[in-house]
This record gives sequence, C-alpha cells and structure tokens, in this order.
Amino acid sequence: MIVIGAGASGLMCAATAGYRGKKVVVLDHANRAGKKILMSGGGRCNFTNMDAAPKHFLSDNPHFCISALRRFSSQDFVDLVDRHGLDYVEKTPGQLFCEHSAKDLLDILLTELEWSGAELRLNTKIHNIDFQDGQTVIKTNQGDFTCESLVVATGGLSIPTMGATGFGYDIAKQVGHNILPTRASLVPITVQPDRKAQLAELSGIACEISATASGVTFQEPMLFTHRGVSGPSILQITNFWQPGETLNINIAPTLSLDDLLDVRQSTPKKSYEGFLSNLLPKRLVELIKAEFPWLTERSAQTSNEQIDNLFHYLANFDIAPNGTEGYRTAEVTLGGVNTNEVSSKTFESQKQPGLYFIGEVLDVTGWLGGYNFQWAWASGFCAGQYV
Ligand code: FDA
Repeated sequence: MIVIGAGASGLMCAATAGYRGKKVVVLDHANRAGKKILMSGGGRCNFTNMDAAPKHFLSDNPHFCISALRRFSSQDFVDLVDRHGLDYVEKTPGQLFCEHSAKDLLDILLTELEWSGAELRLNTKIHNIDFQDGQTVIKTNQGDFTCESLVVATGGLSIPTMGATGFGYDIAKQVGHNILPTRASLVPITVQPDRKAQLAELSGIACEISATASGVTFQEPMLFTHRGVSGPSILQITNFWQPGETLNINIAPTLSLDDLLDVRQSTPKKSYEGFLSNLLPKRLVELIKAEFPWLTERSAQTSNEQIDNLFHYLANFDIAPNGTEGYRTAEVTLGGVNTNEVSSKTFESQKQPGLYFIGEVLDVTGWLGGYNFQWAWASGFCAGQYV
C-alpha cells in the first residue's frame, strides 16, 4: 500500500494500516513530514475539538462525514495522545492545543508510524501514476513503486510554500472524478479600496463582533488588518461567505437598542463616548465619534433618533469584501474531490478500485477550531482499516 502525502491524514492512515500488517510506504515530495501540523495553531496545533460533530463540516454531501466522525471521535484521538503523555490545554471550550509545541504531536504520529512498521520516503517527486489491472505503478525520482492500494492524502491548496499542490485533484481527474470548485477558506478578508483606508487606521485592533453571511452568524473576535479584517469570526465566516456578498458586521453584538436608551436614563450627565469607551477599543470609538460628533455631549441631550442611528451604525458596520488573501494565508480549501463518488465507509473511489482519498483533498471542510485535523484523523483512521 502507498500513501501519497505525509500530512495529518496520511500519517494516521499509514500507521493504522501498518498495525494491520500491511506493507506501507508513505511518499511525500517535501523534505519534512507534517509541515502544516507544525505551523498550525500558532505553532501549538489545535489538534481536535471535543465537540466535533457533522454540523461543523461543509460538503456538497453533508452526510459523508458522519460515519467516520462516529467511528473515530475526538476522544479516540485524545486517547491516542494520552498514551504518549502529550501535554495539552483546552483554550476555548472544546479546542485542544499542544501545551508546548506542535512538534510534540508530530513526534507522536511519527512514533506511531515507526511502531506500525510503515516506511516514510521524503523528497519523493511523483512523475506519473499508471493504474493497471489489480495494481498501480507510481514513477518517482526515487524509482518505481508498485502497490495494490493507493491512498491520496495530498491535502488542499493552502500555503503552497509549505508543499501544498493540486496533485490529488489531478489524480482524481485522471480516473474520472469530479472536482467540486475549490476556494481558499478560513482566510482573512480584503476590502474595497475606499473602505481600506478607513479600516487601515484601525489596524491591529481586535474586538468581539458578530459577522453574518449567507444567513450564518459567528460571534467571536475580529482583527482589523492593513488589508481588511481577520480574526476568528472573520475566518469562520469565510466558510459561508459567497464572493460578491456583503458581510454584516455588528461591532457591539451584545448591545440592544434598549441598553443604549438606558444609558441616557441611568447616566444623563455622562456622554455616550464614555459609555462606548468601556465597550470598544479607543481608536474605534474615535472613528465612530467622527460620524456622530454629539457622542461627547451629555447623554441627557440626545434624541431618540440619534440613539437609534447610533445603534444601527454599530449593528451594521458592514464590509463589502473585494476578496480574500487567498491560498497564501488560508487555512483550508473549500471544495475538492466529490464525496458522492467515494465510499464514506472505506474511502475507496467508486471510479477506480484500490484508490482511496482522505483528508482535505476531499470536499469536506471543517469550521475553525480543530475540526479540520479531526477530519484528517478520522478519515485517515477509517481508510486505514480497509486499504
Ligand atoms: P496536509 O496538508 O496535512 O498534508 C498533505 C501532504 O501532502 C503534505 O505533506 C504535502 O507535502 C504532501 N503533498 C502535496 N502534494 C504532493 C505531491 N504532489 N507529491 C507528494 N506529496 C505531496 N486545522 C485544525 O484543525 N487546527 C488548526 O489549528 C489548524 N491550523 C492551521 C494553520 C495553518 C496556517 C494552515 C495552513 C492550516 C491549519 N489547519 C488547522 C488545517 C489543517 O492543517 C489541514 O486541514 C490538515 O493538515 C489537512 O490534512 P491532510 O492530511 O489532508 O493534508
């Protein structure tokens, strides 16, 4: 059996199959295994989410992920890292990160790989794959490999400098699979030039907002950048935002109109500027003040209409993206190999016997928060049981 891709799903699949007594070789063109694991989670890898459920995944076929997520849960992965004594922390509820370094997690996967008897071949450039009757021949710069089962675990297109390629899609197309349109996701958003200058003044500021697109809302921090906006709420919403759609941003999502009206009632001698300063970063309040100069006045002097206007301004700090930062900084790729043409039980292609697709190369994309690695572990483990 050959696995192409020594990333999260490929390493998991190879070790699982190796323990079953399969003769496994993992090929990767990179000079190091698991580069994305190392760079993930700010170097500490958010390796799973204890709340991982099918509702946290996007796919043209939403049922596809259910079986694997059930057969290999986040608790199963935690049990694995516990056996190796990994130190980890739960940052935001459910999100588990390595306490020290993502390298600790990669070391566990490489140890498992070694114990399972699987072989890892790095710096291996694949020239050609020839599907013959009952076997597959892979021509590489390290010579030819022949296998009965070929697992494609080449991931998505994000961060090409880390070794990402569309090779998995090419293999899929070679045997007649459909590739659903791919797009960079979990990615910072860039804004139209007119808004860019305004937002650039806020660059570096973070605040809790709610972002809504295509009827889906995330309430998490947002970060203003030189090019537009980023931070968890923005990365999350890019899984749902459609190009051309305006993002609804509420910069005071916990505030109701009644709360704002109450300010005038309860603190008539104080200004709305003072009230907002307790709620929002100073530079953002300055920007709002430029729109509403009356904010500096005593709140007793403000009219219902002014308060209403302020409320609507805060709740509709909308942004018309002109795009995203693309694969250069994206965490994942939306779309990929059509899961309607792959078995959700074995991960075998319905077009080519003996060919398997796992991980991000498939049209399965998780939310931000450890879900994408959980998909890699689950799909890798399940395929590893059948190859
Ligand atoms: P993965 O990308 O891990 O591995 C693919 C492998 O295939 C690579 O080793 C590559 O070199 C190899 N390959 C590609 N083309 C090849 C070719 N032509 N020939 C040979 N080998 C080839 N997720 C999460 O759950 N929590 C997190 O904290 C983060 N953080 C994060 C940060 C950043 C910056 C990024 C870019 C991504 C994340 N992710 C994440 C997403 C997560 O990294 C991703 O979903 C998984 O790594 C996908 O695992 P795969 O095994 O499918 O691909």
